Amino acid sequence: MSVLSGKKILLGVSAGIAAYKTASLVRLFIKAGAEVKVIITPNAKDFVTPLTLSTLSKNPVHSSFYNEEDENAIWNNHVDYGLWADFMVVAPATANTLSKMANGVCDNLLLAVYLSAKCPVYFAPAMDLDMYKHPSTDKSFRTLKAFGNIMIPAGTGELASGLVGEGRMAEPEDIISFIEQDIISKLPLKNKKVLITAGPTYEAIDPVRFIGNHSSGKMGFELAECAASLGAEVILVTGPTYLSANHKSIAVHRIVSAEEMYHKVHEFYETCDIAICSAAVSDYRPKVVADKKIKKEQETLHIELVKNKDILASLGKIKKQQFLVGFALETNNEIENAKEKLKRKNLNLIVLNSLNDQGAGFKTPTNKITLIDAQENFKAFELKSKAEVANDIFNEIVMHLNE
Ligand code: CTP
Repeated sequence: MSVLSGKKILLGVSAGIAAYKTASLVRLFIKAGAEVKVIITPNAKDFVTPLTLSTLSKNPVHSSFYNEEDENAIWNNHVDYGLWADFMVVAPATANTLSKMANGVCDNLLLAVYLSAKCPVYFAPAMDLDMYKHPSTDKSFRTLKAFGNIMIPAGTGELASGLVGEGRMAEPEDIISFIEQDIISKLPLKNKKVLITAGPTYEAIDPVRFIGNHSSGKMGFELAECAASLGAEVILVTGPTYLSANHKSIAVHRIVSAEEMYHKVHEFYETCDIAICSAAVSDYRPKVVADKKIKKEQETLHIELVKNKDILASLGKIKKQQFLVGFALETNNEIENAKEKLKRKNLNLIVLNSLNDQGAGFKTPTNKITLIDAQENFKAFELKSKAEVANDIFNEIVMHLNE
């Protein structure tokens, strides 16, 4: 899956011959799973039609403050575009548009959007080789880079003038991979290894029966997807669940019992930067596992249980560089119990679920959490989807890692 999936991209097209390539660029953005809106300078319409770009982007294409599609709408609000976008790409960026961007000129919609956008801005220059080399163009490049804008360098090749040299807009495929690489290089968990436990454990009674619980594993799988999307390499150790992971950076290790989870987790823990135990591990297991199916011969049956190792507590004991996160599912005196668990298991952060909150805990698509850190600061969150909860947890972890 591309890092562009789900991103909101604002494409600004200025008036250069390379504008015809923006049709492919829009298609590739959409194919990567992004949402695209296009704004175009009035003169760029000579090179590519708004109809082409609006058909491909599935959004109206605007070039002026006047809303051409909707006579009842007051105007095309440049501020709204900038707030909507995750990032803006100006491609092709002509010498004229680049110079205006560098100097705060604001005589069309594209420039007004650029000036008001708070999101990252990429620009892909496209012009003839002598224009590209001109000191004034170079000055525009340097000014825009100093503003924090990101230049997608032009390529070398045959130009529309027939001359051969530098100035050709980067090919759409190259623009896409440049932006993907740039985003990946800035992800907050890049080069980090994250270990996550998920799901229930099953403790065998005999060959056909076990002691288990209702955990679906959803919270742990959402945590894994979230960590991977933030650039981490993820090791997901999960008990029995029907769920599967989508991201290529998630290695799933399936285990059945608490004992197997304990060993698998310890195999990977030493080199991890972050470990999160979200599994609902069975606290006990049958002392003896019958090797044949137990027959219903007696009126009552007693199964002696012995305690399983506490995986999270064992990780807390040997903790070095790892940022260790545990879960606590409480029914009463929640905050105090969670704080006690955080200390006893030597955690950096504990995620508290209260069974008193509707929609929190097992088998639900939602969760309602309170985060408590080692300094006993706590943050309570609203009821959210488990994907959003995973995001809140990682925002907190990243904040602590950057302290
Ligand atoms: N946990 C674990 N291994 C166990 C039991 C629990 O790793 N054998 C982890 C869970 O993944 C979770 C946290 O410990 O992160 C929650 O433990 P919980 O069972 O709620 O609390 P306990 O400390 O076991 O105490 P109690 O059951 O008495 O509340």
